[in-house]
Amino acid sequence: MRNSLLLLILPFGSAFVVPQSPTVRTFGVSLHAVALEPEPEGGEEVTPLKTMAGCRMKKMEELKNVKSENGPAYQFWMTATVDGNMIKDNHTELLKNAKKKANFPGFRKGQVPPYAMPQITQFSIQEAIIKTVEAAVDAHGLKALSGSDGQVEVKENVEDMVKGYKLGDPIQFTAVLNLSYNTDNSASDVIDEPAGVVDVAAKEV
Ligand SMILES: *[C@@H]1O[C@H](CO)[C@@H](O)[C@H](O)[C@H]1NC(C)=O
Ligand SMILES: *[C@@H]1O[C@H](CO)[C@@H](O)[C@H](O)[C@H]1NC(C)=O
Repeated sequence: MRNSLLLLILPFGSAFVVPQSPTVRTFGVSLHAVALEPEPEGGEEVTPLKTMAGCRMKKMEELKNVKSENGPAYQFWMTATVDGNMIKDNHTELLKNAKKKANFPGFRKGQVPPYAMPQITQFSIQEAIIKTVEAAVDAHGLKALSGSDGQVEVKENVEDMVKGYKLGDPIQFTAVLNLSYNTDNSASDVIDEPAGVVDVAAKEV
């Protein structure tokens, strides 16, 4: 799958992908661990339904060849801040699980060697990025596409984020992803509701 690491399949069936290819990066001076990829020109700012700190999304070009159940699909550019506590909590969780399974040569059973620690930090950052992307998509009234159309490409290298990262610090990132508008958001607006949705709801009762 290109130079990407497949992270996991999300409940809505979208594979989130973080690029692993090493590109030239420099470190930022603030809490942001890595320099961000430049924001693309143009696009249309999406008004959020719920405000998320440090988060912006822009609708870029329409994807003429991509089908979605929710009308036209577009490429979106986004940036968001990952809550440092989310990373920390996940790190704690992952480390706890790693200790249960740890049986490294030259180390006591249950001991995670220092060289494995950056990997755990990396996974916890990836996990928190995924959760943040999901939250951002939701907060902007958007919906992920199913299958491989629904991948997220994080523009910054997560391995680089790990270097010099202090657990609990927030991390800013940028990403591109393909989405459609969430037609469920207009569910309260009965006039806009597609007839099919009503039918399905009626059958479930
Ligand atoms: C951390 O990541 C793991 C592995 O993906 C996940 O199962 C878990 O729910 C996450 N925990 C927290 C506290 O976010
Ligand atoms: C978005 O869709 C386009 C067109 O199908 C595809 O080339 C691109 O890789 C997709 N982007 C992501 C992040 O999956």
